[in-house]
This record gives sequence, structure tokens and C-alpha cells, in this order.
Amino acid sequence: MQQPLVAREFAIQTDNMQQTLVLHVNPEQPEAAPIARAAAVLRAGGLVAFPTETVYGLGANALDDNAVRAIFRAKDRPAYDPLIVHLADAASLPSVVRVVPDAVRLLAVHFWPGPLTLVLPRNAAVPPSVTAAGDTVAVRIPSHPVALALIRAAGVPVAAPSANRFGRISPTCVEHVLADLQGRVDIILDGGPTPVGVESTVLSLVSSIPAILRPGGVSREALAAVLGEVDVHQLAITPEPESMQISPGTSSSHYAPRARLILYRGQKPALLQAMRAEADRLQSEGERVGVLAADEDAGYFAALRERQTSPVCFQPVGSEQCLTDVARRLYGALHALDQAGVTVILARDFGNAGLGLAVRDRLTRAAGGRVIQV
Ligand code: TXA
Ligand code: MG
Repeated sequence: MQQPLVAREFAIQTDNMQQTLVLHVNPEQPEAAPIARAAAVLRAGGLVAFPTETVYGLGANALDDNAVRAIFRAKDRPAYDPLIVHLADAASLPSVVRVVPDAVRLLAVHFWPGPLTLVLPRNAAVPPSVTAAGDTVAVRIPSHPVALALIRAAGVPVAAPSANRFGRISPTCVEHVLADLQGRVDIILDGGPTPVGVESTVLSLVSSIPAILRPGGVSREALAAVLGEVDVHQLAITPEPESMQISPGTSSSHYAPRARLILYRGQKPALLQAMRAEADRLQSEGERVGVLAADEDAGYFAALRERQTSPVCFQPVGSEQCLTDVARRLYGALHALDQAGVTVILARDFGNAGLGLAVRDRLTRAAGGRVIQV
């Protein structure tokens, strides 16, 4: 993709609050001017949304309590949900972490910079607002050149949750950020779509066995290859439900589209046949049905897509053979289905290997317990 040589900028004025300035920045070689401007905003206690390799983050100076509180206000995020602190390099860890366990060095060699967040003992310099008053702090070193350039230029650790309103889908492009946060953030750095598409893996190193608290961009298999033993906290990934019954589930409705989402798990072709039968039934009841599935599943829904009245809206997320594509396109597909105005989304599972686990986790949360095992 051709990038403009000079930074393009425009300001968006909203009725309620401040102006949001959108600065275009080259994702591979970020220009100095927009980075310097955004870094100055961070140092002055303002909010900057910026691309990371996973999703867009909503950043503030992690050592400035007032700035961190502004993140929670902008997102309508409850104070009990702690933030990830982003650093430019592992050498900066002591600025936010009390002790650096040996495992960190090993993990840093393999996965940093990149989509791995480590939960470590908190240093006293980190305000309690960042950690929800807890004694641990989550840290990561992002690999996106814009994120790294911004953190370096700011010269401070950057606390950043995903740049969406609380409970909504994480943003993988600037349009998603604007839809949720226009007028609530000082600057948005527009570095194009984010390459990984799902959030970082959150790994706790304060438990005796390293534990995945949230599956994400670094797979469980990759962590196990380096660490040996790794626990997975199956918080959102509900236990195998009864055949063809809706699992009541207790997972909080996180990462949720506006439409009601139902997740289908099981083997093909029964999985797709069950989805098609349900799409057909819902359609005849007057629902506007969206289907989120693999490219190769399109044929199953061809007839329903060609109907005269309220045809099924089919959103492919890539080949089931390429889970990096599926992860990268997942949130964009959910946003697109919301945009299309569907009332219900039938989504298929992609297994639990590699990035499939993170995809399953997000779809399970979005389903809020509506999981059907075929
Ligand atoms: O990829 C990502 O991780 C993105 C980009 C912007 O870096 N950030 C992100 O942040 O997803 P957020 O706030 O949306 O999710 C952070 C997750 C939450 O599930 C939070 O509960 C968990 O990390 N977390 C943060 N601090 C923690 C801590 N001290 N202990 C346990 N979990 C923590
Ligand atoms: Mg989030």
C-alpha cells in the first residue's frame, strides 16, 4: 500500500467534548512529526490512541494517576479492571516492576517485542489506578513500529487498554476507534489495520506455574515450547456443553457486537448444517441473520444469501487453514455485521490449536454463554 510522504491530519469536532485530532502515520517507518506531537500529548497528561500489532490502544502516561483515570472515563471502564503498561524495551522493566523473574528473560528473547503480556510484581511507582489497586502489574513490549516510536518519544511507560468503549469489540482500524472514542481522546495515530487482530496473550508469572489468563496473539503451544508447563485459565472458554443445548455459561459478555451472537462448536459438516438450519429458521421468523464462517464455508449458505427477502449476510474471515487470517479479520467481520444491521450472528468455532484458542475465547465471550455444541 502506498503511504503518503507527509503526515496528513484532520480534526474532528464533536458537540460534547474536545477535538480529536487524527494523524496519519506510516506504519512501517513512522514520521517524526506526528510521533513527537502525540508524545507531547502523553507527557502533558493527555490521551493518545495508537496502533499496536494486536489492536489499537488508548494510551496515557502510566505514572500519571490523573491521566490514567482519564482512560477509565473515556472508555466507561470500571476501575476494577487493570491496565497493561507498554514499554519500549525490557531494560525499562524496573521502572514498573519490583522483581524480574528469570523466566522473563527467556520469554523476552522469544516473544518480545510482540503480543505477550506478563503479569509481574508491581513497583511502587505505578499508581494503583493502573493495577486496580492490586500488587501486580501487566506489562508488554509491542512490536508495532508506531507503538514503539511513540513510547520511546514519550519517554514514559504507556498504560493502554484496547481503544474501545468497555464491553465492546476491540478496534483493528482507525474507523473502529473513531466510532467508539471520537471526542473522548486528544489524538489518534492512524497506522492502518493492525496485523495480528486479537489482543495479546496475558501470562501470569506470579503463580507457581505460569498461567495464561487470556489467550491471544502468542499461542499456548509456543509458550509451552519455551516454558515447559503452562496452565490455561478456562474463564471464558466454557466446558463442553451438552449436545445441541445452549450452555448457560457464566462468561461475561465482553468483546460483544450489538447483535445477539450464537457460537457453534463441533465437527464439520454437521456444524455447518446446524448453522444453516438455524439461519433458515431465524430468517423465516423475520430476523436479519449474519453468518461468520470460513471462506470455504460459503457454499453452505449460498441459497440463503440469494433469497429475495432479508438474505443472510455472510462474513468470511479467511480460510480455516490459516488461523492468522481468521484472527486478523475476526473483529472487522463483527463490526461489519453490526454495520449491516443484522439482529443475530451465527458464528462457527475454529478449534483450539494455535490462534484458534484466542478466537474461541473472544467468540465465547461475545456469545455471552450462547454456545451450541453440535
Ligand atoms: O493486545 C493487547 O493486550 C491490547 C493492546 C492495546 O496492547 N491491550 C488490551 O488491553 O487488550 P485491555 O485493557 O483491553 O485488556 C487487558 C487485559 C484485561 O483482561 C485485564 O484484566 C488484564 O489484561 N490485566 C491487566 N492487568 C492485570 C493484572 N495485574 N493481573 C491480571 N490481569 C491483568
Ligand atoms: Mg479490551
